[in-house]
Amino acid sequence: MLYKELDPMEGDEGQRKTFTTRAEGQAGSVSVKIELTPRAGEQTMKERYGVEKYELGSGFSVSDSLRSLVPTSVPDYVDEGENYVSRIMRALYFFRQCALIGPSGTGKTHIVYLVAKIAGLPLWEINCGLQTSVYDLFGRFVGLGRENWIDGQIVSWCRYGGILYLDEANMMKQDIATRLNPILDTRGHMVLTEKDNEVIPRHPFGYVVISMNPYAAEFAGTKPLNAAFRRRMSVWVDFDYLSVGSKVSSREVGMISERGKIEAPVAERLVRVAAEMRKRYKTGDLPYAPSVGDLINWATLVADGLTPAAAAEETVISMTSDDAEIQAGVRRIVHMIAGSDGGVKKPLESA
Ligand SMILES: Nc1ncnc2c1ncn2[C@@H]1O[C@H](COP(=O)(O)OP(=O)(O)OP(=O)(O)O)[C@@H](O)[C@H]1O
Ligand SMILES: [Mg+2]
Repeated sequence: MLYKELDPMEGDEGQRKTFTTRAEGQAGSVSVKIELTPRAGEQTMKERYGVEKYELGSGFSVSDSLRSLVPTSVPDYVDEGENYVSRIMRALYFFRQCALIGPSGTGKTHIVYLVAKIAGLPLWEINCGLQTSVYDLFGRFVGLGRENWIDGQIVSWCRYGGILYLDEANMMKQDIATRLNPILDTRGHMVLTEKDNEVIPRHPFGYVVISMNPYAAEFAGTKPLNAAFRRRMSVWVDFDYLSVGSKVSSREVGMISERGKIEAPVAERLVRVAAEMRKRYKTGDLPYAPSVGDLINWATLVADGLTPAAAAEETVISMTSDDAEIQAGVRRIVHMIAGSDGGVKKPLESA
């Protein structure tokens, strides 16, 4: 057998679903692309989120080396009519960049992955809170002499295009912000002073999304967003939890019930606990509040047979803090709302 079959790749290019399979051997390689057009009545992702008119990736062809950066299986994003996905895609379509603001766990990172998937674009994700250096992000020479230059992530994004996602943008170090500013002008470019002043124009499919968490900033005493950055963001999208305080979202309950495989009334109790915790997080009384993902983990243990109170010990209670006093506070909320015996003990029979 001369040929070895490589992993098939799946993509969703709006109206069409494509599968590319490649075989490689001594005589070279062949690549076969199969296209499936949706059956009549079948909704594409673009239709589902109402973003058909915001074509971000039309005409962009993803090279093999960047293909792994295009997100594939991203779960649906649920909202209560805020249309977050289409607002972000609209902002990128008209202005090429936008800012997302909201507390931890409201799905900012999730939605950027989803937008990249829908648009079929590579995602370059940078967490600005980490101590990443200018060399890592922009590039450097490696080895002896000045022969082997390696592009950093931001330079790669600028050259090849895709979505640059700057998470926790308000935590960005000043030296990195200073170098980024000129590229954030829509027709911006980058000058690599360390590499004989090479000028790299911003790729026509080079989009930027920044995100930040106003509450974390408040508690950790971090700085506000760099002013030059703020001026360059045309659209700001505010995120909030689906359920918070007395507002309990039936869509969130449905999602926890379905993805955590528990009955809706049990899911509702977990969501009520989360809503109370989120309220306290927003007023600064708790250091963390559960996201949809955290609730699904909690529900998964309940579906496995634990009571909500027992499952909470291993999930939402421990996750909130290491501090015994804070944990006791969360335990009280769980017992008050979900019941100390867990209320309902039977998980949903497997569907
Ligand atoms: N509206 C939503 N629909 C579906 N899943 C959601 C939604 N909101 C949050 N999630 C899920 O909750 C978890 C946390 O979301 P994510 O990490 O995207 O939050 P974030 O806003 O980026 O938080 P942070 O500010 O801490 O980075 C993920 O598992 C995500 O899939
Ligand atoms: Mg995030």
